[in-house]
Amino acid sequence: MASKRERFLSAAAPDAYFLDADDVKGLRQYLGEREWLMPGESVQRAEIAGQGNMNCVVRAVTPSRSFILKQSRPWVEKYSDIAAPFDRALVEAEFYRVVSGAVAADWMPQFYWVDPTSRILCLEDIGTGGDLSRLYAGARLDAADQQRVGGFLSALHTSRSQMLNHEMRALNHFHIFVFPFDSENGLDLEKFTPGLQQASQRIKKDLKLVARIKQLGQVYLSDGDYLLHGDYFPGSWMRTTFGIKIIDPEFAFAGPREFDVGVMLAHLTMSGDTTALDALPTYYAHWSELDQRLVQGFAGVEVLRRLLGVAQLPLKLDLDRKRDLIDSSIRRILE
Ligand SMILES: Nc1ncnc2c1ncn2[C@@H]1O[C@H](COP(=O)(O)OP(=O)(O)OP(=O)(O)O)[C@@H](O)[C@H]1O
Ligand SMILES: [Mg+2]
Repeated sequence: MASKRERFLSAAAPDAYFLDADDVKGLRQYLGEREWLMPGESVQRAEIAGQGNMNCVVRAVTPSRSFILKQSRPWVEKYSDIAAPFDRALVEAEFYRVVSGAVAADWMPQFYWVDPTSRILCLEDIGTGGDLSRLYAGARLDAADQQRVGGFLSALHTSRSQMLNHEMRALNHFHIFVFPFDSENGLDLEKFTPGLQQASQRIKKDLKLVARIKQLGQVYLSDGDYLLHGDYFPGSWMRTTFGIKIIDPEFAFAGPREFDVGVMLAHLTMSGDTTALDALPTYYAHWSELDQRLVQGFAGVEVLRRLLGVAQLPLKLDLDRKRDLIDSSIRRILE
């Protein structure tokens, strides 16, 4: 069985660098060759920066600074037997390039460089404050947080773009619109919440609902004009000493603004942050221009796929609450 390093090097060029937090010596040499370190500067240590699923994300520390290196490999980092689009770091770099100089870039880490050969991005280290997953455990967005998460999307959704990102969109399409609604998908929902399998049956049998979900999936796949973040949920919102910053645009594409807004709405719904939910039309600037049926449809599908698909969240909800969410999501989708 080939090692991850060997598998990576056979997919990339032989002179590519395989990122490894345990290989400080190799990291020093790699960064030296890229002329990224200042004269006399050396990497003292490296560590895994945080719990991502898809990529290898490392914090490199020198005596005077730290920075983040993010490498995409031709598999899902957490499950290396599952293939994933190799070039997603390049998409992410493209996103940072498109937004550079725009307001949205102020609320993201600074983008330093990309190494296309090794599929490595180098980003500003925005600290160890963690993401906003604690919203699912009862934490709330205060007014400043709401302004920031809404303000970022409002600013981003003024940028026009041609970004296709077909490969990542196909992957997301499958996990959002197809797999969770396939009665033969083999996923054991009972291991998440006993009774959930039974509760999900009515969705899979409701032909009108299944048809509408399919239609929404087609809208997701069709090309649009606005640059979207593509994965706008609390896992992409980081706490920093300068307020919330937004990371991880690897699923970005030019599409309908309703998708980003619907996904955000879904996560505020699941976290039970009703104040933030009710205020969304005030802190997201383009609300009145949106097709509300589409927003509600995407929101409903996002809730369902998080309950019934593989990308589970740290939600502490019992079966009754999950049933309520399933019912309200179905109503949203069929609105
Ligand atoms: N610029 C940064 N500064 C500080 N920490 C960061 C930065 N970028 C990422 N991290 C840390 O690394 C974690 C994973 O980063 P990111 O979400 O970009 O990776 P990913 O592999 O795409 O994750 P996922 O599988 O959830 O999409 C973040 O949750 C965060 O803790
Ligand atoms: Mg990601």
